[in-house]
Amino acid sequence: MRIVHVSDLHHQLDWRRRSWASSGWRGVPGRLELHAFGRWERFAFAERTWNGILEDIEVLEADHVILTGDLTAMGDEEEFLAVEPSLRHLLRAGRVTIIPGNHDRYTDGSAARGFERVFKAELTSVMPEYADARGYPFVKFVGADVALIGLDSTRVPGWAQYFVGRLGKAQLAALTRILADPRLEGKTVHVLAHHGPLSPDGKRDWRESALIDAPALLDVLRDRAVLFHHGHSHVRSWRRGHEAHPHLFGGGSSTEPGGEGYWLLDVDDHQTLEATHLKPGRMLAR
Ligand SMILES: [Fe+2]
Ligand SMILES: [Fe+2]
Repeated sequence: MRIVHVSDLHHQLDWRRRSWASSGWRGVPGRLELHAFGRWERFAFAERTWNGILEDIEVLEADHVILTGDLTAMGDEEEFLAVEPSLRHLLRAGRVTIIPGNHDRYTDGSAARGFERVFKAELTSVMPEYADARGYPFVKFVGADVALIGLDSTRVPGWAQYFVGRLGKAQLAALTRILADPRLEGKTVHVLAHHGPLSPDGKRDWRESALIDAPALLDVLRDRAVLFHHGHSHVRSWRRGHEAHPHLFGGGSSTEPGGEGYWLLDVDDHQTLEATHLKPGRMLAR
C-alpha cells in the first residue's frame, strides 16, 4: 500500500480585503497572526504548492492520501469550499482520509462546524457504533488490509484552540475499543489526529505537540501495532516505533515555504515500511 501523508495546507482567503468583523471575536488572534505577523504572506502560494503535490500524488500512484488537518487558515466555510474542489477527485475515489485541525475551528462556533458540513460524506464510518455525535472516531477500510481511524483533537473551547489540542476521555475510550475490535485483526492500522503526542524531537514542547491528553493517548497506543499520523507542528518528523510509542509521523506543513513536502510511505505492515520525505516535484528532501 502506497500512502502519501500531507498536512497543514492552510488555504486562505484574501483576508486583506475582509473586515475584521467578518471573522468574529473568535478569529481575532488568527487575524492578528495573518496581518501583523506575516502569516498571510507566508502562505500566499499555498494553493500553487498544493497543486504541485496533487500532481505528484498521481505520478507516484499513491493508493491513499492522509491529510492531518489545518486545511484552512481561519476555519471559514468559504475557505473549506475553496479547497474542497482540489480534493474532490480523491474524495470520490475514496483515496483520501481527512481530519480537522485547530485552524479549521478558529472562527467556528459550537453550532457551526464548517469542516463537518463540507466533508460530511468523508466522515462516514464502517464502525459507526464507536462514533460520538460529531462523528469521531471514524473508521475506514481501504482494500482488505488497511484500516484508518480518524480522531478530532480540537476538543477545546474558543481561543484555547490557538494554544492546545485535546481528544477527551470519550474519544480515547472509543479508540481503545476500536483497537481491540476483531474486525481490525490482520489489518495495518493508521491512527490520525491533528495534534501529535510528542514534539518532533521526541519531547513534549507545548508549542509543537500541544496535546493536553498526550500521556493518555500514548497509554492507549502503547504496544499497539499501529502507525500514528499527525500535523500541527510544521516540522516534518518520523519518530520510529519502539516500546514507548508506535511510529509517529509528523506531516509538517506541506505548503509552508522552506518546509514544503510530504511523506511517501510504502507500507506492508507496521514493521515493514519505507518512508521517504519528498519535496513538491518528487525531489528527495535533505
Ligand atoms: Fe498548521
Ligand atoms: Fe495546527
